[in-house]
Amino acid sequence: MKKWFAVIGNPISHSLSPFMHEAWLKESNIDASYIPILVEEGKLEEAVKGLKLLGCSGWNVTVPYKKEIIPFLDEIDDSAKGIGAVNTVVKSEDNRFIGYNTDGLGFIQSLGPIPSKPLVLLLGAGGASRGIAHALKQSGISNIFIANRTHANAERLVNDLKIGQAIELQEAEGRLYDFDIIIQTTPQGMKNQENTLPIHLHKIKEHAIVADIVYNPLVTPFLEEATKYNVRTINGLGMLVHQGAIAFSYWNGIKPNSDKMVERLTEQLGG
Ligand code: ATR
Repeated sequence: MKKWFAVIGNPISHSLSPFMHEAWLKESNIDASYIPILVEEGKLEEAVKGLKLLGCSGWNVTVPYKKEIIPFLDEIDDSAKGIGAVNTVVKSEDNRFIGYNTDGLGFIQSLGPIPSKPLVLLLGAGGASRGIAHALKQSGISNIFIANRTHANAERLVNDLKIGQAIELQEAEGRLYDFDIIIQTTPQGMKNQENTLPIHLHKIKEHAIVADIVYNPLVTPFLEEATKYNVRTINGLGMLVHQGAIAFSYWNGIKPNSDKMVERLTEQLGG
C-alpha cells in the first residue's frame, strides 16, 4: 500500500505542512502523500482510531490536540513527556504509535550559530515556550528566564520543568542588556491579533539575537522593533520548517533540505 502521512488539528486549512512535506516527499522520490485532516471537537479518539485503521504511517498534531492526544498513543518519547505535548506520531515496525515533540529542537536548529553559555529570555509560558525551554535545557543551555503576562504561569513552567526562573516582564525589560537571546513565544503580533509589543527593547544588548515564533506575518511588530537596534532577528518560519524536517526524518530516515524550504516558504508568504 502507498504510504501516507497527515496533519491533524482544528483549524487546519491554513497549515503549511502539507505543502512542505509533499515537496520533500517528491524531491526524495518517496511515493507517498501527506494530507491535512480537520478533527472536530470531541472526535480526537475516533480520529486516531481511524488513522491507525487506515494505515497512516505517521502524522503531525497541531493546535488544539497536542496534549489531548497523549492517552491515545502507545508510547511517549522523553522529548514529548518532558514537554507534556506531542507534535509528531511515528508508527514503529511492530505497529506501535509513538509520540514525539520536535518543536523545541526545531526552534533551536532555526537559531543558527549562538554565543556559548547564553543568557536566554523567554517571553510567554504556554505550550510553545514549554517546548523551547525543554529543548534549551536538553542542549545544555540552562540560564533561562521566563517572563509572562500571567506571572503564575511562568512560575508553573519553571516548577514543572525544573528549568530557569520566572521574572516579571517589567524587570526583564529593565535589565534587557543582560540577555543574549530573546525569544517571543506568544501569539502577540500574529495577523488579526492585537499588535502590542510584549516588552520594549531600548535596553537591548549589542549583538543580541531576537527570535519570534510567529511566521504570519514574517516580520512581526516585535521583530520590526528589534531591527531598529541592529540585532540579528529570526522569524518563526525556521522553527516550522525544522520541526517538520525532524518529523520527516523520523518517518522516512532521510533529512530533507530545510534551508531551501525556508526560502520557498518565505517567497510564498511574500517575504
Ligand atoms: P501555546 O500553547 O500555543 O503556546 P497558549 O497556551 O495559549 O499557546 O499560550 C499562550 C501564551 O501566550 C501564554 O503565555 C499567554 O499568557 P498568559 O499565561 O498570561 O495567558 C501568552 N499570551 C497570549 N495572548 C497574549 C497577549 N495578548 N498578550 C500577552 N501574552 C499573551
